[in-house]
Amino acid sequence: MCQDLKALQAEDPQIYNAIRAEEKRQFEAIRLIPSENYASQAVLEASGSVLTNKYSEGYAGKRYYEGQEHIDEVENLAVERAKELFGADHANVQPYSGSPANAAAYYALLEKGDTIMGLHLLEGGHLTHGWKYNMSARFYNSVPYHVDKETEMLDYDQVMEAAKEHKPNLIVCGYTAYPRIVDFAKFREIADEVGAYLLADISHINGLIVGGVHPNPVPYADVVTSTSHKAIRGPRGGFILSKAEHAQAIDKAIIPGLQGGPHNHTTAGIAVAFKEAMQPEFKEYAQQVVKNAKHLADKLMERGFVLVTGGTDNHLMVINTAKSHDIPGKVVSEALNKAGIVSNYNMVPFDERSPMDPSGVRIGTPAVTTRGFKEAEMEKIAEWMERVIKDPHNEESLKTIHAEVLELCSGFPCPGIEG
Ligand SMILES: Cc1ncc(COP(=O)(O)O)c(C=O)c1O
Repeated sequence: MCQDLKALQAEDPQIYNAIRAEEKRQFEAIRLIPSENYASQAVLEASGSVLTNKYSEGYAGKRYYEGQEHIDEVENLAVERAKELFGADHANVQPYSGSPANAAAYYALLEKGDTIMGLHLLEGGHLTHGWKYNMSARFYNSVPYHVDKETEMLDYDQVMEAAKEHKPNLIVCGYTAYPRIVDFAKFREIADEVGAYLLADISHINGLIVGGVHPNPVPYADVVTSTSHKAIRGPRGGFILSKAEHAQAIDKAIIPGLQGGPHNHTTAGIAVAFKEAMQPEFKEYAQQVVKNAKHLADKLMERGFVLVTGGTDNHLMVINTAKSHDIPGKVVSEALNKAGIVSNYNMVPFDERSPMDPSGVRIGTPAVTTRGFKEAEMEKIAEWMERVIKDPHNEESLKTIHAEVLELCSGFPCPGIEG
């Protein structure tokens, strides 16, 4: 175990034990939830530091509290690294997470009641892109666009038509469960056609963009929002990139618009993750994430699994288990979990089942790639997934697969846990 948690063990054994148990779970499982990863030991140390003790409302050089010399240094490093990594004019690293980053972007660019247009949640968009129960649809008028019914992919002509019909003030691109490359230039064209702002939410693909395996929206979007975790392997947090003309509005939307003091310990972790993302090894990791996803997708399809859109170009895929095996996603993801393979159940486009009992399972390769899995391991995973889905209620068989999974995992150390 990498973390020395002696004080915690003495002070609060219940929390200590829960953390150690979670470490063990993360080490022993094949973690395929596409939004998860392993942060490095250095990121964990920075984000668990005494920086959590400091209040720093405001921005470097313009704070409301004294004693900011070291915090300013940390935040400036995070900001400069974000700008360099993505080629952005402006960066704000204070959003508490991806959802507040989106809320801040709307707050900066829109008036209450303005129209936003994002991909429908049930087809791969995020809650914060205009889902009816989210603030993004309560404070703004949300008119979603859709993927094509046949291909399950974005059809840019259809998005253009929808934009012309509804004349949104802001269009959101970038998704939670969409396995294909996003054409940001096309989205810029659509936004320009109707005079809308373009917001690209790169929460899922942040690391792929840095690694050069997904196009960068920065040249096209007015504002880019992101989590600082997921593929880029930082601590849980968020950041916003923007064109210079929106810099002030974005900063004001974060504070005083939406937040108080930034989480300085998280900012430090973000800065470290950005430094790691600048290293040549990160590019190799990002490339391998996509190679692994494509290989896993191919192997699953060879074994009869039906994938939404027929495959993947990025780090994730959505399997329509109801279609391929006549078994709903929840049954599959629960059985996979018993076998040591962790996924999440997920809606498929135009799903007729309910969100709590949908037709699909979403999986992705960032976490397993971080621990060193390559194509050979993807083949093992496809084989295990087939065995699970063919007999999801056979506890004996799930136990046997779990033992095989454990054996494989023991040979692949996890950053921040073992290795
Ligand atoms: C595209 C997208 N945007 C925003 C978010 C929200 O991030 P958070 O959970 O950190 O608020 C997510 C998280 O799943 C996401 O996938």
